[in-house]
Amino acid sequence: MDEARVAYDGVVEVYAELFADRLETRPFARGMVGAFAELVRESGNLRAADVGCGPGHLTALLCELGLGAFGVDLSPGMIGHARRAHPELRFEVGRMEALPVEDGVLGGVLAHYSMIHTPPEELPAVLAEQARVLEAGGLLLVSFFATEGPDVVRFDHKVTPAYSWPVERLVELMEGAGLVPFARLVHDPASERGFLEGHLMARRPHSLGRP
Ligand SMILES: C[S@@+](CC[C@H](N)C(=O)[O-])C[C@H]1O[C@@H](n2cnc3c(N)ncnc32)[C@H](O)[C@@H]1O
Repeated sequence: MDEARVAYDGVVEVYAELFADRLETRPFARGMVGAFAELVRESGNLRAADVGCGPGHLTALLCELGLGAFGVDLSPGMIGHARRAHPELRFEVGRMEALPVEDGVLGGVLAHYSMIHTPPEELPAVLAEQARVLEAGGLLLVSFFATEGPDVVRFDHKVTPAYSWPVERLVELMEGAGLVPFARLVHDPASERGFLEGHLMARRPHSLGRP
């Protein structure tokens, strides 16, 4: 994971420049983030974490959409950028594996391409951590690279190696963390990258009831 920290620390300005548009050019992702924000607002608990927030552009978008969002990222460079770009918002250096949040207090968790570098064997613990911080009825939105085949595929992402996931495998892991996935969107970004983009939304039930 330190590999990801060093890698993202090295690309802060380029990354921020590339993604500063708050999803204006990505209608599917924007739609899912909009639906997520609406459902969190409906839940009545506006507290939300943008985990792996990078330069903070989506933390700011969630706040524009009415949430009380804060950002967490393991890259001090990204957090420094986020604080400078959005001085009115809260950003913390921290890890998805141990979020600086008490149990059951959040209405929403957004993990927008934040777990793409997480080795598959570590993903169950990260999802369990996201389930831990959500209140009953709270929502998780995970955006990720998806693949149509049956296997997780490791590939050479521009920043540091990443994984693309069969949607069903990720659904199973979410269920294993006690969450209830209930909405999914998979689309072909028509890019040269050769894989799909996936968005999965899940709800924390009243009892986590993990197997
Ligand atoms: C592909 S970027 C996504 C950034 C932002 N969510 C977005 O959509 O533009 C992945 C981000 O996750 C962060 N990250 C990776 N592993 C992490 C971990 N274990 N804990 C916290 N942040 C992590 C990286 O530092 C990086 O900023």
